[in-house]
Amino acid sequence: MKLVVFETEPRERVAFEALGAESLHFETVALNPASLAAATDADVISVFIHSRIDRTMIEQLPQLRLIATRSTGTDHIDLDACRARGITVCNVPAYGENTVAEHVFALLLAISHRIVEGVARTRAGGFECEDLQGFDLSGRTLGVVGTGRIGRHVIRIAQGFGMPVLAYDPMPDPVYAAEAGIEYCALDALLSEADVVSLHVPATAQTHNLIDDAALARMKPGSVLINTARGSVVDVLALIRALRSGHLAAAGLDVLPGEPEIREEAELVCAASPAPQALAVLAAEQVLMHMPNVLVTPHSAFNTREAVQRIVDTTVENIREFFAGRVINTA
Ligand code: NAI
Repeated sequence: MKLVVFETEPRERVAFEALGAESLHFETVALNPASLAAATDADVISVFIHSRIDRTMIEQLPQLRLIATRSTGTDHIDLDACRARGITVCNVPAYGENTVAEHVFALLLAISHRIVEGVARTRAGGFECEDLQGFDLSGRTLGVVGTGRIGRHVIRIAQGFGMPVLAYDPMPDPVYAAEAGIEYCALDALLSEADVVSLHVPATAQTHNLIDDAALARMKPGSVLINTARGSVVDVLALIRALRSGHLAAAGLDVLPGEPEIREEAELVCAASPAPQALAVLAAEQVLMHMPNVLVTPHSAFNTREAVQRIVDTTVENIREFFAGRVINTA
């Protein structure tokens, strides 16, 4: 059994070594057409979210039987193509719900207390704060879109700040709502009543551009959008329009739709015939990253010591079970 682990840090490797695979190979890079050769005879691969596994790639991995992604989301993997080839895909269903929820508030508090500008000010030797007035979270309504594992932790933390909560989920859980003391409502009502909207939905065809021009127009003037879910959930051009017009006060984004392109920006721009749509998204993201009322983090909401350890432990367990003929955590 050959196992190839992509996108690994040296400190994660010891756990994979303990699996005792007949052949084990580590790659620091993502699985992409350039690094594919390392996995052509692999039975099992483990990847993170920067490995985009499409049908063409799968066709070039003839022995592959298991993809163990070290993430919750599986939108970087063509699950239909895997199913058609009989390849099992396992994910890490839960590892960082508190971690991502904490990052939501890191972004939100950085916006509400103007932390990034304040730190830049003191580092430049300034100490004036008159023009750095923020706003309280207490008393402001939080709209949580998607009340799964992360959304529920966000709600719990929000309540500690004294924020009333509205929630939307196509699969509402009335028992949870009663226990948590929150109200479910329609998405339109949430958008028009919340002062802060935080997104916690998976990337699916239904959530693609869920927050578009129309949704942004429904949002309360002066409200804030936080997206730690997936970039595809927000139409970035529409978001720029809403921020530029002043309709939205600010945005905190841990995810962007063109994340692979940003990482390989120079390659994309220098390509013989770059895709116009990819260039447009790249340009939009550069604009967002430089807007003073937008904070962008590099898809790092999950990245704490504790969460990464939980990811590795579950992934190793997924592979160990597969070696033993059992399948757990199928995506
Ligand atoms: P989950 O599966 O526990 O919850 C997702 C919730 O979204 C479910 O309650 C589901 O019913 C709801 N939902 C589905 N479609 C919806 C729609 N159209 N509108 C509103 N709600 C909808 O997932 P979890 O663990 O809470 O994670 C949410 C997402 O967060 C993941 O799918 C992943 O994309 C993202 N994520 C981001 C990370 C980061 O580092 N930024 C780390 C981990 C997850």
